Amino acid sequence: MAASIFTAVPRAPPVAVFKLTADFREDGDARKVNLGVGAYRTDEGQPWVLPVVKKVEQMIANDHSLNHEYLPILGLPEFRAHASRIALGDDSPAIKENRIGSVQSLGGTGALRIGAEFLRRWYNGNNNTATPVYISAPSWENHNSVFVDAGFKDIRTYRYWDAAKRGLDLQGLLDDMEKAPEFSIFILHACAHNPTGTDPTPDQWKQIAAVMKRRFLFPFFDSAYQGFASGSLDKDAGAVRYFVSEGFELFCAQSFSKNFGLYNERVGNLTVVGKDADNVQRVLSQMEKIVRTTWSNPPSQGARIVATTLSSPQLFAEWKENVKTMADRVLLMRSELRSRLESLGTPGTWNHITEQIGMFSFTGLNPKQVEYMIKEKHIYLMASGRINMCGLTTKNLDYVAKSIHEAVTKVQ
Ligand SMILES: Cc1ncc(COP(=O)(O)O)c(C=O)c1O
Repeated sequence: MAASIFTAVPRAPPVAVFKLTADFREDGDARKVNLGVGAYRTDEGQPWVLPVVKKVEQMIANDHSLNHEYLPILGLPEFRAHASRIALGDDSPAIKENRIGSVQSLGGTGALRIGAEFLRRWYNGNNNTATPVYISAPSWENHNSVFVDAGFKDIRTYRYWDAAKRGLDLQGLLDDMEKAPEFSIFILHACAHNPTGTDPTPDQWKQIAAVMKRRFLFPFFDSAYQGFASGSLDKDAGAVRYFVSEGFELFCAQSFSKNFGLYNERVGNLTVVGKDADNVQRVLSQMEKIVRTTWSNPPSQGARIVATTLSSPQLFAEWKENVKTMADRVLLMRSELRSRLESLGTPGTWNHITEQIGMFSFTGLNPKQVEYMIKEKHIYLMASGRINMCGLTTKNLDYVAKSIHEAVTKVQ
């Protein structure tokens, strides 16, 4: 037999978050805790199917008018319209002026990828792979790969996290924007920044928008956690809506994985805000070409669930309650962890645990302390010190707090 034609293929390293989960699964220790997972968990440590989702799934199953025909290339029209509406707001000037468009996508990742592909093809010239793309330092690790794979050659970071003060490095961020070449693309986390859990305040967003406008920088929002940051959909969309009110043309990638708990249904949306209807329609016509060769047309189940929920005032209210349940549990775990660390007298300050928002927290544990947590305590977290607050439960809080205390006092 001839040698395999794949002999020269190098083995790619595993994706960190999935590797961590696999290691956790294999760990036989009864005390083990997974704080690395990227999804919501109940106080019993279980995935949660939102009650409103269960109800709507039943409605869909009983609706005999539905079938499995292909959706249009750009997706389910009512899903796209409602998804963009919750990002931009009921009274959005851009919606009223008919200058928005949407692309249903395979999760938030799909929205980012389709948007990145479009920008490489058509933004700042034609196939301009040299346009700098700025990503926050740190960021969700996939941002970099998505834009590299779309063909961009100049991926840069902008300052975001100030490790010493465990907060936003606003001045660094603004300086990097001032220095960025005009027309650079900036990926902005709409809310609940992953992994730091630290967002600009409304006033800081105003400063950011002012620099971006003056320097002709393109805002590409990534909205993966709407509702998770504050418990309020409107508050969490504040930054995107402010930019729209300031007249920006922008993209906003939305994920419904977290706020609907529809991780494996792959429900996302890319909202395009342009200057006028004609511009948006031309953009959408190109988006259609990109989608056609990428996934041809999107899946329907998740989009139907979201569209049905968002189009009924009663179901919408139920969903908001479900989102609040998740957000409140995260808030409770934050305050419980902080108060335990403070009463143990764990060295350092722990106010950042309650000041940070969303599902994730940057604990400030260093890589050696993280290793101690995993090896000695069977508590799994990312090497960066990021923990998912939903991995905490009323049953494991004491153990996790004591273990953090030990890691901080024993390992420098
Ligand atoms: C910041 C950020 N953007 C996008 C995504 C992707 O979401 P989805 O699973 O819907 O593709 C995630 C998921 O973890 C995320 O954290």
